[in-house]
Amino acid sequence: MDAAAEPTLDDVRAFWDRRPCNVKHSPKLVGTKEYFDEVDQRRYFVEPHILHFMEAEKWRGKKVLEVGCGIGTDTSVLAKAGAKVTGTELSQASLDIAKQRFAVSGLTVQFYLANGEEMSRVVPVEPYDLVYSFGVIHHSPHPEKIITEIEKYMTPQSELRIMLYAKYSWKSLMIFLGFDQPEAQYGCPIANTYSKREARELLKDFEIISIKKDHIFPYRISEYKEYRYVKKFPWNIMPSTLFSLIKRWWGWHLLITARLKPDVSQAG
Ligand SMILES: C[S@@+](CC[C@H](N)C(=O)[O-])C[C@H]1O[C@@H](n2cnc3c(N)ncnc32)[C@H](O)[C@@H]1O
Repeated sequence: MDAAAEPTLDDVRAFWDRRPCNVKHSPKLVGTKEYFDEVDQRRYFVEPHILHFMEAEKWRGKKVLEVGCGIGTDTSVLAKAGAKVTGTELSQASLDIAKQRFAVSGLTVQFYLANGEEMSRVVPVEPYDLVYSFGVIHHSPHPEKIITEIEKYMTPQSELRIMLYAKYSWKSLMIFLGFDQPEAQYGCPIANTYSKREARELLKDFEIISIKKDHIFPYRISEYKEYRYVKKFPWNIMPSTLFSLIKRWWGWHLLITARLKPDVSQAG
């Protein structure tokens, strides 16, 4: 890639194809039940807020569209809870693992290899009860195009639940100071961050039901890579109530729940 050139969708796809998100969450053989069980365990141990945010039980019997499903971890939680899930993903390598996950678990899903920026070219447009996208939209060259596409799958009754990276966060500060990087793998081509105001601008066609920050990763990386969880300073000496409070102010994950404004709805 030309050093001065803007990263393209091909760069984004190549990055996630090289190392699908969370693929190293277990040292077991990729594709086995043991592997996926360990991936689940690690993900929801390190990021327990995801399950609270998703509220899988609420979507039993409902239609859920997931944009950027990665290796299908949240997808399978939703399917296990009884949601009728459609998963879409840009990276073939990620989607292949997600498909293996569903094959081993026997759960049902409809998967599409699709760029969220032009999802409606591939994924049949129909109304969904929930559109869910965790940590995806900020990685795409044109996040606003994904939002426009998502709107096609929503009615005023549908819910949107997305996670965007938070601009005013501990992690952003560490990245700025050169102590951290947005993803486990070096060289993520795009990782935009949003203030609450910028997120509201991106979601201008939506009524925001809730917007809050969560998640600070408190573990030492060297031990974490060996599947051990040792907290580093200052998180190791901090009472959990104070840690929760700091996550609300300085968390990396901006968790947004929203509904389409009635006059914008296109689906249904
Ligand atoms: C940080 S991972 C998150 C994956 C999954 N949502 C999870 O939480 O495990 C980001 C994902 O977004 C996908 N992605 C990036 N841009 C996309 C786009 N334009 N359309 C669809 N997926 C995209 C990547 O391929 C990658 O799998």
